[in-house]
Amino acid sequence: MDYIVQTRNVSKSFGREQAVIDLNMKIPKGEIYGFLGPNGAGKTTTIRMLLGLMKPTSGSIHIFNKEIRTEKIEILKKVGSLVENPSYYPHLTAYENLEALRIILGVPKSRIYDVLELVRLSDVANKKVQGFSLGMKQRLGIAASLLHHPELLILDEPTNGLDPSGIIEMRQLIKQLPREFDMTVLISSHLLTEIDQIATTVGIVSQGKMIFQDSIEAMRNHAKPKIALKVGNIAHAHRALLSRGMKVEVQEEVIHLQEHSDEKIAQAIRFLVQDGISIYRVEEEKQSLEDIFLQMTTEGQ
Ligand SMILES: Nc1ncnc2c1ncn2[C@@H]1O[C@H](COP(=O)(O)OP(=O)(O)O)[C@@H](O)[C@H]1O
Ligand SMILES: [Mg+2]
Repeated sequence: MDYIVQTRNVSKSFGREQAVIDLNMKIPKGEIYGFLGPNGAGKTTTIRMLLGLMKPTSGSIHIFNKEIRTEKIEILKKVGSLVENPSYYPHLTAYENLEALRIILGVPKSRIYDVLELVRLSDVANKKVQGFSLGMKQRLGIAASLLHHPELLILDEPTNGLDPSGIIEMRQLIKQLPREFDMTVLISSHLLTEIDQIATTVGIVSQGKMIFQDSIEAMRNHAKPKIALKVGNIAHAHRALLSRGMKVEVQEEVIHLQEHSDEKIAQAIRFLVQDGISIYRVEEEKQSLEDIFLQMTTEGQ
Protein backbone atom coordinates (compact mmCIF):
# COMPACT_ATOMS: atom_id res chain seq x y z
CA MET A 1 0.00 0.00 0.00
CA ASP A 2 1.21 3.45 -0.89
CA TYR A 3 0.89 5.70 2.16
CA ILE A 4 1.12 9.45 1.84
CA VAL A 5 1.50 9.80 5.59
CA GLN A 6 2.91 7.16 7.88
CA THR A 7 3.89 7.75 11.49
CA ARG A 8 5.87 5.07 13.27
CA ASN A 9 5.35 4.80 17.01
CA VAL A 10 5.15 8.53 17.40
CA SER A 11 4.88 9.81 20.97
CA LYS A 12 4.86 13.32 22.35
CA SER A 13 5.12 14.32 25.99
CA PHE A 14 4.72 17.71 27.58
CA GLY A 15 6.53 17.35 30.87
CA ARG A 16 4.89 14.42 32.56
CA GLU A 17 1.82 14.47 30.35
CA GLN A 18 1.74 12.18 27.33
CA ALA A 19 -0.30 13.89 24.64
CA VAL A 20 0.39 11.31 21.91
CA ILE A 21 1.33 7.68 22.58
CA ASP A 22 2.82 5.24 20.05
CA LEU A 23 0.76 6.57 17.20
CA ASN A 24 0.86 4.67 13.91
CA MET A 25 -1.13 6.74 11.49
CA LYS A 26 -1.46 5.49 7.92
CA ILE A 27 -3.05 7.62 5.26
CA PRO A 28 -3.42 6.00 1.83
CA LYS A 29 -3.14 8.15 -1.28
CA GLY A 30 -6.29 9.87 -2.51
CA GLU A 31 -8.25 9.36 0.70
CA ILE A 32 -10.01 11.86 2.89
CA TYR A 33 -8.69 10.73 6.24
CA GLY A 34 -10.96 11.71 9.13
CA PHE A 35 -8.92 12.15 12.29
CA LEU A 36 -11.53 11.85 14.99
CA GLY A 37 -11.27 12.21 18.74
CA PRO A 38 -12.66 14.13 21.69
CA ASN A 39 -11.09 17.43 22.74
CA GLY A 40 -7.69 16.88 24.27
CA ALA A 41 -7.18 13.53 22.49
CA GLY A 42 -3.97 14.70 20.79
CA LYS A 43 -5.16 15.64 17.29
CA THR A 44 -3.62 19.09 17.08
CA THR A 45 -0.38 17.86 18.64
CA THR A 46 -0.17 15.12 16.00
CA ILE A 47 -0.91 17.57 13.20
CA ARG A 48 1.72 20.01 14.46
CA MET A 49 4.26 17.19 14.36
CA LEU A 50 3.22 16.24 10.81
CA LEU A 51 3.81 19.83 9.76
CA GLY A 52 7.22 19.93 11.42
CA LEU A 53 6.04 22.61 13.86
CA MET A 54 6.88 20.38 16.79
CA LYS A 55 9.26 17.44 17.22
CA PRO A 56 8.06 14.04 18.43
CA THR A 57 9.53 12.85 21.73
CA SER A 58 10.06 9.51 20.00
CA GLY A 59 9.14 7.74 16.76
CA SER A 60 9.39 8.91 13.18
CA ILE A 61 7.14 10.58 10.64
CA HIS A 62 7.19 9.79 6.94
CA ILE A 63 5.33 11.89 4.39
CA PHE A 64 5.60 11.05 0.67
CA ASN A 65 7.99 8.33 1.86
CA LYS A 66 10.43 10.96 3.12
CA GLU A 67 11.28 11.54 6.73
CA ILE A 68 10.16 14.86 8.15
CA ARG A 69 13.25 15.14 10.34
CA THR A 70 15.66 15.13 7.41
CA GLU A 71 13.56 16.31 4.47
CA LYS A 72 11.19 18.80 6.00
CA ILE A 73 11.53 21.49 3.36
CA GLU A 74 11.04 19.07 0.46
CA ILE A 75 7.96 17.64 2.15
CA LEU A 76 6.36 20.94 3.11
CA LYS A 77 6.60 22.21 -0.47
CA LYS A 78 3.87 19.71 -1.30
CA VAL A 79 1.71 20.17 1.80
CA GLY A 80 -1.04 22.72 2.39
CA SER A 81 -2.49 23.30 5.82
CA LEU A 82 -5.04 25.14 7.87
CA VAL A 83 -4.35 24.87 11.57
CA GLU A 84 -6.19 27.00 14.10
CA ASN A 85 -7.28 30.46 13.03
CA PRO A 86 -5.28 31.56 10.02
CA SER A 87 -3.85 35.07 10.13
CA TYR A 88 -4.84 37.72 7.59
CA TYR A 89 -4.34 41.35 6.93
CA PRO A 90 -7.91 42.46 7.75
CA HIS A 91 -7.57 45.80 5.99
CA LEU A 92 -6.54 44.11 2.73
CA THR A 93 -8.90 42.43 0.29
CA ALA A 94 -9.09 38.67 -0.23
CA TYR A 95 -7.17 39.11 -3.48
CA GLU A 96 -4.45 41.20 -1.83
CA ASN A 97 -4.03 38.72 0.99
CA LEU A 98 -3.51 35.91 -1.50
CA GLU A 99 -1.21 38.11 -3.61
CA ALA A 100 1.08 38.67 -0.62
CA LEU A 101 1.35 34.93 -0.17
CA ARG A 102 1.65 34.21 -3.88
CA ILE A 103 4.80 36.30 -4.11
CA ILE A 104 6.40 34.33 -1.28
CA LEU A 105 5.41 31.03 -2.87
CA GLY A 106 6.40 32.10 -6.37
CA VAL A 107 3.33 30.77 -8.16
CA PRO A 108 1.68 32.50 -11.16
CA LYS A 109 -0.97 35.18 -10.59
CA SER A 110 -3.58 33.04 -12.30
CA ARG A 111 -3.53 30.72 -9.28
CA ILE A 112 -5.22 33.43 -7.22
CA TYR A 113 -8.25 33.41 -9.50
CA ASP A 114 -8.25 29.61 -9.59
CA VAL A 115 -8.28 29.16 -5.83
CA LEU A 116 -10.78 31.97 -5.23
CA GLU A 117 -13.08 30.28 -7.72
CA LEU A 118 -12.56 26.93 -6.04
CA VAL A 119 -13.60 28.22 -2.61
CA ARG A 120 -16.34 30.38 -4.17
CA LEU A 121 -14.97 33.73 -3.09
CA SER A 122 -14.50 35.22 -6.58
CA ASP A 123 -17.41 37.61 -6.05
CA VAL A 124 -15.86 39.12 -2.94
CA ALA A 125 -12.25 39.04 -4.15
CA ASN A 126 -11.99 42.83 -3.87
CA LYS A 127 -13.70 43.18 -0.50
CA LYS A 128 -11.73 43.72 2.68
CA VAL A 129 -11.32 40.60 4.76
CA GLN A 130 -12.37 42.38 7.97
CA GLY A 131 -15.98 42.26 6.75
CA PHE A 132 -15.90 38.52 6.08
CA SER A 133 -17.90 35.95 8.03
CA LEU A 134 -15.99 33.20 9.82
CA GLY A 135 -16.98 30.77 7.05
CA MET A 136 -15.59 33.10 4.39
CA LYS A 137 -12.36 33.52 6.36
CA GLN A 138 -12.00 29.75 6.66
CA ARG A 139 -12.54 29.37 2.94
CA LEU A 140 -9.94 32.05 2.30
CA GLY A 141 -7.60 30.06 4.55
CA ILE A 142 -8.18 27.00 2.40
CA ALA A 143 -7.66 29.05 -0.75
CA ALA A 144 -4.31 30.17 0.65
CA SER A 145 -3.33 26.61 1.52
CA LEU A 146 -4.13 25.49 -2.05
CA LEU A 147 -2.16 28.22 -3.86
CA HIS A 148 0.92 26.06 -4.42
CA HIS A 149 -0.97 22.95 -5.63
CA PRO A 150 -0.30 20.76 -2.57
CA GLU A 151 -0.56 16.99 -2.86
CA LEU A 152 -1.51 16.70 0.79
CA LEU A 153 -3.90 19.05 2.55
CA ILE A 154 -4.06 19.06 6.36
CA LEU A 155 -7.04 20.74 8.02
CA ASP A 156 -7.36 20.93 11.79
CA GLU A 157 -11.05 21.20 12.74
CA PRO A 158 -11.90 23.41 9.75
CA THR A 159 -15.61 23.52 10.55
CA ASN A 160 -15.20 24.67 14.17
CA GLY A 161 -17.40 27.65 14.83
CA LEU A 162 -19.07 27.61 11.41
CA ASP A 163 -22.82 27.85 11.00
CA PRO A 164 -24.67 24.99 9.25
CA SER A 165 -24.45 26.52 5.79
CA GLY A 166 -20.75 27.22 6.31
CA ILE A 167 -20.24 23.60 7.31
CA ILE A 168 -22.01 22.32 4.20
CA GLU A 169 -19.95 24.59 1.93
CA MET A 170 -16.73 23.46 3.59
CA ARG A 171 -17.72 19.82 3.21
CA GLN A 172 -18.53 20.18 -0.50
CA LEU A 173 -15.29 22.00 -1.07
CA ILE A 174 -13.16 19.36 0.65
CA LYS A 175 -14.94 16.41 -0.96
CA GLN A 176 -14.07 17.50 -4.48
CA LEU A 177 -10.32 17.80 -3.84
CA PRO A 178 -9.20 14.15 -4.18
CA ARG A 179 -11.31 13.64 -7.31
CA GLU A 180 -10.45 16.81 -9.13
CA PHE A 181 -6.91 17.49 -7.99
CA ASP A 182 -5.55 14.12 -7.04
CA MET A 183 -5.10 15.35 -3.49
CA THR A 184 -4.97 13.47 -0.21
CA VAL A 185 -6.72 15.19 2.69
CA LEU A 186 -6.37 14.90 6.45
CA ILE A 187 -9.22 16.51 8.33
CA SER A 188 -9.60 16.44 12.10
CA SER A 189 -12.77 16.82 14.09
CA HIS A 190 -14.24 16.00 17.48
CA LEU A 191 -17.61 15.39 15.82
CA LEU A 192 -18.33 11.95 14.51
CA THR A 193 -21.18 13.10 12.24
CA GLU A 194 -18.77 15.52 10.59
CA ILE A 195 -16.24 12.79 9.84
CA ASP A 196 -18.97 10.36 8.83
CA GLN A 197 -20.14 12.77 6.15
CA ILE A 198 -16.81 13.57 4.64
CA ALA A 199 -14.14 10.94 5.29
CA THR A 200 -13.34 7.77 3.35
CA THR A 201 -10.85 6.49 5.95
CA VAL A 202 -11.00 7.06 9.69
CA GLY A 203 -8.51 7.18 12.52
CA ILE A 204 -9.98 7.51 16.00
CA VAL A 205 -7.80 8.78 18.83
CA SER A 206 -8.57 8.80 22.50
CA GLN A 207 -6.19 10.00 25.20
CA GLY A 208 -3.29 10.09 22.77
CA LYS A 209 -3.78 6.57 21.42
CA MET A 210 -5.08 5.40 18.07
CA ILE A 211 -7.95 3.11 19.00
CA PHE A 212 -9.33 2.46 15.53
CA GLN A 213 -8.06 2.97 12.00
CA ASP A 214 -9.82 1.64 8.93
CA SER A 215 -12.25 2.53 6.15
CA ILE A 216 -15.44 4.38 7.01
CA GLU A 217 -17.44 1.24 6.08
CA ALA A 218 -15.44 -0.82 8.54
CA MET A 219 -16.25 1.71 11.24
CA ARG A 220 -19.95 1.49 10.45
CA ASN A 221 -19.84 -2.31 10.42
CA HIS A 222 -18.38 -2.18 13.88
CA ALA A 223 -21.84 -1.50 15.19
CA LYS A 224 -23.65 -4.79 15.00
CA PRO A 225 -27.37 -4.41 15.44
CA LYS A 226 -28.92 -5.86 18.59
CA ILE A 227 -32.23 -7.68 18.61
CA ALA A 228 -34.69 -6.41 21.18
CA LEU A 229 -37.58 -8.62 22.31
CA LYS A 230 -40.62 -7.28 24.10
CA VAL A 231 -42.36 -10.13 25.81
CA GLY A 232 -45.18 -10.82 28.28
CA ASN A 233 -43.06 -12.13 31.13
CA ILE A 234 -39.50 -10.86 31.09
CA ALA A 235 -38.12 -12.92 33.97
CA HIS A 236 -39.60 -16.10 32.57
CA ALA A 237 -38.36 -15.35 29.06
CA HIS A 238 -34.90 -14.48 30.35
CA ARG A 239 -34.64 -17.84 32.13
CA ALA A 240 -36.07 -19.70 29.14
CA LEU A 241 -33.39 -18.34 26.83
CA LEU A 242 -30.50 -18.54 29.29
CA SER A 243 -31.26 -22.17 30.13
CA ARG A 244 -30.96 -23.01 26.42
CA GLY A 245 -27.54 -21.40 26.19
CA MET A 246 -28.51 -18.20 24.42
CA LYS A 247 -26.66 -14.98 25.08
CA VAL A 248 -29.19 -12.52 26.46
CA GLU A 249 -29.36 -9.46 28.62
CA VAL A 250 -32.28 -7.70 30.24
CA GLN A 251 -32.45 -3.96 29.92
CA GLU A 252 -35.35 -1.67 30.75
CA GLU A 253 -38.23 -4.07 30.21
CA VAL A 254 -36.67 -5.44 27.03
CA ILE A 255 -34.63 -8.54 26.34
CA HIS A 256 -31.57 -7.94 24.23
CA LEU A 257 -30.36 -10.88 22.25
CA GLN A 258 -26.60 -10.87 21.76
CA GLU A 259 -26.95 -13.32 18.88
CA HIS A 260 -26.87 -11.91 15.38
CA SER A 261 -27.56 -14.78 12.98
CA ASP A 262 -31.04 -15.24 11.55
CA GLU A 263 -31.07 -18.87 12.72
CA LYS A 264 -30.29 -17.98 16.35
CA ILE A 265 -32.99 -15.35 16.35
CA ALA A 266 -35.54 -17.81 14.94
CA GLN A 267 -34.48 -20.34 17.59
CA ALA A 268 -34.95 -17.83 20.40
CA ILE A 269 -38.44 -17.06 19.17
CA ARG A 270 -39.25 -20.79 18.98
CA PHE A 271 -38.09 -21.32 22.59
CA LEU A 272 -40.30 -18.49 23.80
CA VAL A 273 -43.30 -19.83 21.89
CA GLN A 274 -42.68 -23.35 23.25
CA ASP A 275 -42.76 -21.95 26.78
CA GLY A 276 -46.00 -20.11 26.13
CA ILE A 277 -44.49 -16.65 26.46
CA SER A 278 -46.22 -13.85 24.56
CA ILE A 279 -43.97 -12.00 22.11
CA TYR A 280 -45.10 -8.46 21.46
CA ARG A 281 -42.25 -7.09 19.41
CA VAL A 282 -39.01 -8.27 17.78
CA GLU A 283 -36.95 -5.26 16.79
CA GLU A 284 -33.52 -4.62 15.41
CA GLU A 285 -31.78 -1.86 17.33
CA LYS A 286 -29.10 -0.28 15.23
CA GLN A 287 -26.44 1.50 17.20
CA SER A 288 -25.98 5.08 16.18
CA LEU A 289 -22.53 6.20 15.16
CA GLU A 290 -22.43 8.18 18.40
CA ASP A 291 -22.91 4.92 20.29
CA ILE A 292 -20.01 3.31 18.43
CA PHE A 293 -17.76 6.28 18.99
CA LEU A 294 -18.60 6.39 22.67
CA GLN A 295 -18.12 2.64 22.95
CA MET A 296 -14.72 2.80 21.23
CA THR A 297 -13.45 5.76 23.20
CA THR A 298 -14.48 4.22 26.51
CA GLU A 299 -13.14 0.76 25.55
CA GLY A 300 -9.85 2.47 24.73
CA GLN A 301 -9.46 3.76 28.26
N1 LIG B 1 2.15 23.13 24.08
C1 LIG B 1 1.61 22.32 25.00
N2 LIG B 1 2.10 22.25 26.26
C2 LIG B 1 1.57 21.44 27.18
N3 LIG B 1 0.54 20.61 26.97
C3 LIG B 1 -0.02 20.62 25.74
C4 LIG B 1 0.49 21.46 24.70
N4 LIG B 1 -0.24 21.23 23.58
C5 LIG B 1 -1.15 20.31 23.91
N5 LIG B 1 -1.02 19.92 25.20
C6 LIG B 1 -1.83 18.89 25.88
O1 LIG B 1 -1.83 17.73 25.09
C7 LIG B 1 -3.09 17.11 25.09
C8 LIG B 1 -3.60 16.97 23.68
O2 LIG B 1 -3.94 18.24 23.18
P1 LIG B 1 -4.36 18.52 21.67
O3 LIG B 1 -3.36 17.86 20.78
O4 LIG B 1 -4.54 19.98 21.53
O5 LIG B 1 -5.74 17.74 21.57
P2 LIG B 1 -6.93 17.90 20.50
O6 LIG B 1 -6.42 18.71 19.36
O7 LIG B 1 -7.29 16.51 20.14
O8 LIG B 1 -8.05 18.58 21.21
C9 LIG B 1 -3.99 17.94 25.97
O9 LIG B 1 -4.04 17.37 27.25
C10 LIG B 1 -3.29 19.29 25.99
O10 LIG B 1 -3.53 19.94 27.21
MG1 LIG C 1 -7.19 20.46 18.52
